[in-house]
Amino acid sequence: MPRVRKAVLPVAGLGTRFLPATKAIPKEMLTIVDRPLIQYAVEECLAAGIEEFVFVTGRSKHVIEDHFDHAYELEATLEARGNKKAELEAARDAIIPYGNAVFTRQQQPLGLGHAVWCARHWVGDEPFAVLLPDELTLSTPSCTAELVAEHERSGGSVISVVDVPREQTKSYGIVAPGKDDGRIAEVVGLVEKPDPAKAPSTLAAIGRYVLLPEVFSHLDKHEKGAGGEIQLTDSMARMIGHAPFHALRYRGTRYDCGNRMGFLEANIAVALAREDTAKEARAMLARLAKNT
Ligand code: G1P
Repeated sequence: MPRVRKAVLPVAGLGTRFLPATKAIPKEMLTIVDRPLIQYAVEECLAAGIEEFVFVTGRSKHVIEDHFDHAYELEATLEARGNKKAELEAARDAIIPYGNAVFTRQQQPLGLGHAVWCARHWVGDEPFAVLLPDELTLSTPSCTAELVAEHERSGGSVISVVDVPREQTKSYGIVAPGKDDGRIAEVVGLVEKPDPAKAPSTLAAIGRYVLLPEVFSHLDKHEKGAGGEIQLTDSMARMIGHAPFHALRYRGTRYDCGNRMGFLEANIAVALAREDTAKEARAMLARLAKNT
């Protein structure tokens, strides 16, 4: 069975929920404490043994490419100053090794399924991961590492899910579960953003997938689904029954950084969790709580 070596990172979205911040900056470059969201996604992949990346970008997203490259002037300046070792390390932290990243463009916003399809030639005929970077997951092992391990066990597709309140099903891809041991459920159906009344369950996909390459043959058809977009969920649904397909409940911490409060919470939570910021962050929060 081929190892999961590649990840597709769809980063072409317009980030309209974060305007005006995202007028000139991609939403994936918004920072949680001091690293952009996209760097967390890449680090999550690395923690899962994935070292090759396909970024599906769009116009005005070139700074993402720059972020994973050397910044020569900056590095030379920090080096010349002599006492900036930590800063220099931070600047180099995100560099992806030579030839391990490709950047391809989704020229039109036709949906997540279409974005993933744009990566087909770079993925080829092997299982691959998909991570939506505006969902931040924090755990050891990483969310993607758990999916990779489950894929290695089953040989099929695996997606990460959490239980959401029923009124939220219309924001997610929802799983119809079959045999379910409380941690892993067989996927017998998948629906994109169903009405709460019609949702087959409350198990929602959280933007982490390990998929068999067969998904591309379904995406090839460019069928439109919910919202008039080409949905990844619909092509995944067509794979059911042809190879194992499971939903793995994610038990780590997850922040929906695609909306403002989730993003703010992630910033506070990461600041509270990190050794170098926890003490000051705690004091700051106590001070703010007292003054409001
Ligand atoms: C996308 C997927 C959806 C998934 C969600 C997770 O929707 O289409 O199936 O549950 O991400 O965040 P979006 O939030 O991009 O509309």
